Amino acid sequence: MTRVAILISGGGSNMVRLVESMTGDHPARPCLVISNEPAAGGLTKAAARGVPIATVDHRADPNRAAFEAALGAELDAARPDILALAGFMRILTEPFVRRWEGRMLNIHPSLLPKYPGLHTHARAIGAGDAEAGCTVHEVTADLDAGPILGQARVPVRPDDTPDTLAARVLVEEHRLYPAVLRRFATGDRSRLDLPYASAMD
Ligand code: GRF
Repeated sequence: MTRVAILISGGGSNMVRLVESMTGDHPARPCLVISNEPAAGGLTKAAARGVPIATVDHRADPNRAAFEAALGAELDAARPDILALAGFMRILTEPFVRRWEGRMLNIHPSLLPKYPGLHTHARAIGAGDAEAGCTVHEVTADLDAGPILGQARVPVRPDDTPDTLAARVLVEEHRLYPAVLRRFATGDRSRLDLPYASAMD
């Protein structure tokens, strides 16, 4: 059974969907949910679903290398085959990424390669884009630039704010990430483009 560790920093809504998708004939199971933020609400949600949890407080470590050494120790103990970053807000150094390259995924709330980095929804609205969305990609040393494994698109509405657009995209994140993880866990690296389903809004 493929073991998946999920890295979070906040509420963990994507983590919850990933955990809840790994049941039955799914080839993977969650082995750990770990956060750099001890107060992350996602830790409670993971524990409530019976998933082992851990925290490595990035403020407790003097530097990034010390943080990643502590993070690596927790991961080594959990023996994951795949790392899924889900709302994880720390940039990982090249040595760390290289160790997990080819086995580490991330979800980013834009249609990469557009809008790597932060404030993606405000940037899409500001640019007058007709559509926005989310991307699941393999993590490489270049921030938000690894091979794309899947995308989901949503319309941008004229009256959208960053919050209303974020909410529309998040619904698609929760559809896309579990679908991509399941394929990835079977060794399928082909790209998945989800058709927009939420015609209600
Ligand atoms: C989501 O928009 C995700 O795309 C980004 O972090 C936000 C919160 O994710 N990476 P979650 O609710 O903590 O999964």
